[in-house]
Amino acid sequence: MNKKFLDLGLQPLANEYPTYYSKKQIKYRLKIYFNTKTKLVSISKRIPSKKMFTNKYPYRSSMSQTMKNSFKELSNEIKKRFKPKLMLEIGSNDGALISNFNTKQALGVEPCSNLAKITKKKGYITYDNYWDLNLAKKIKKDFKNVDLIYSANTLTHINDLNNVFRSIDNLLSKNGILIIEDPSLLECIKKNSYDQFYNEHIYLFSTLSLKNIINKFDLEIFDIKNIKTHGGSLRYYIKRKGNKKFRISKNLIVQENKEKKYGLAKFSTYLKFNKNVVKSKTKLLDLLNKIKKKNKKIIGYGATAKATTVLNFCNIDHKIINYFTDITPDKINRYMPGKKIKIYKYNKNILKKVDFVFLGAWNFKDEICKKEKDFIKRGGKFITHIPLPNII
Ligand code: TYD
Repeated sequence: MNKKFLDLGLQPLANEYPTYYSKKQIKYRLKIYFNTKTKLVSISKRIPSKKMFTNKYPYRSSMSQTMKNSFKELSNEIKKRFKPKLMLEIGSNDGALISNFNTKQALGVEPCSNLAKITKKKGYITYDNYWDLNLAKKIKKDFKNVDLIYSANTLTHINDLNNVFRSIDNLLSKNGILIIEDPSLLECIKKNSYDQFYNEHIYLFSTLSLKNIINKFDLEIFDIKNIKTHGGSLRYYIKRKGNKKFRISKNLIVQENKEKKYGLAKFSTYLKFNKNVVKSKTKLLDLLNKIKKKNKKIIGYGATAKATTVLNFCNIDHKIINYFTDITPDKINRYMPGKKIKIYKYNKNILKKVDFVFLGAWNFKDEICKKEKDFIKRGGKFITHIPLPNII
C-alpha cells in the first residue's frame, strides 16, 4: 500500500529554466509516498518523459570536476574488473562516462537530442530514444548483446520500472553486468535532503526496494558501494542469478542492515523525516530573513534542480536571494524554475560584492569552497540547508 509522508507543494519542472519570469509557469503538486509492501519511495504525479527530457535539456554531467573524476575512476574499474567487449550507458548525457572508453567499446542512449548530439560528434553511436523494450530490441538487432549496462541517475526517472528491467534483461548478455547509480534513500533521509525530490525523480531507491524490483527478472545485487556524488549515492552491481562468477559481497549485507536499522522499512521513519523537513524550512527562512534584515547580499551558487525544490517549497524569491550563478551554458540568463530569480554566468568576480552564498549545489561543497578561497578569505560566508540550515 502507498502511504503519503510528504507534500512539497506546487513545483515547476525542475530542469525547465525559462527565459523570462511568469507566474503562469506550470506547477505540479509534489507528494511523496512510501510503499509498505515493496519499500519503494516514489512521487505521486508522473509527468510524461517527453515533457521533461526534451531537445533543450540543460543538465550537463561534465560540469563538475568531482563528477568527471568519479566517472573516470568507475571506467577504470569497469575495464579491469568486468572487461566488457561492448558496454551501453542508459542516459549518457554529454558523455562524461563513455568518453573514457573508445568509440567501439561504448554505446550511448540519450533521448535529449541536444545532448546526444555531443557524443555523436565525438564518434560514439548514440541512440536518441527513450529507454524501453523497442529500443532494447533495436540495439539487439544492431549489436546482438552488450556485456555491461551502466546507468546513473536515469532509471529512477522512468515511470515503468518493469519495462526498464525487462528491456535490460532482453539486451544484457548471459554473463552480463548491470551497474546502477542513484542517490541513496538512506543518505537522503539521514541528511534531511528533501531536495532530492522533484518531478524527474519518480523513485528514490534503497537496497531494500531495488532488490524487490529486480528479483522478478532473476537479477540480483552482488556488490554495492557508497559513493559521494549527488550528496551520497549507491552504486549497485547486479548480475543474473545464474551467473556464479561473482560472489555476493558482504557490502550488500552491511548496507541492507544499515537501512533496516535506520528504519527504512518502517513508515514511522518517513513521518519523522516529514517533521524534520518542516523544521528545516522554518530554520532556513529564519536564517535568511535575519541576514536580509542586516542589509546583506545573498546570492545562490549552483542553479540545481535541488535548489528549485527548496525555493518553491520555502517560497524564497529574489528579495531574499538576489540571483544565482552557474557555469552551465543552457541555464545562463534564464530564471530559476518557478521563481523570479535570474541566473548569471559564473565569473571569477561574481562574488566580489556578495556577503552570503546559498549553496544550491551543496553536494559540491568541497569543490566550490576550494574554488572560492578569495571569497572565504575576505569574510564571505556560505549557507547550506544540509543537514540543517546553517552558515559554514
Ligand atoms: P547537480 O548538483 O548535479 O544538480 P541537480 O540538483 O540539478 O541534479 O548540479 C550542479 C550544478 O551546479 C550544475 O548546474 C553546475 C553547477 N556548478 C557550478 O556552477 N559551479 C561549480 O563549481 C560546480 C561544481 C557546479
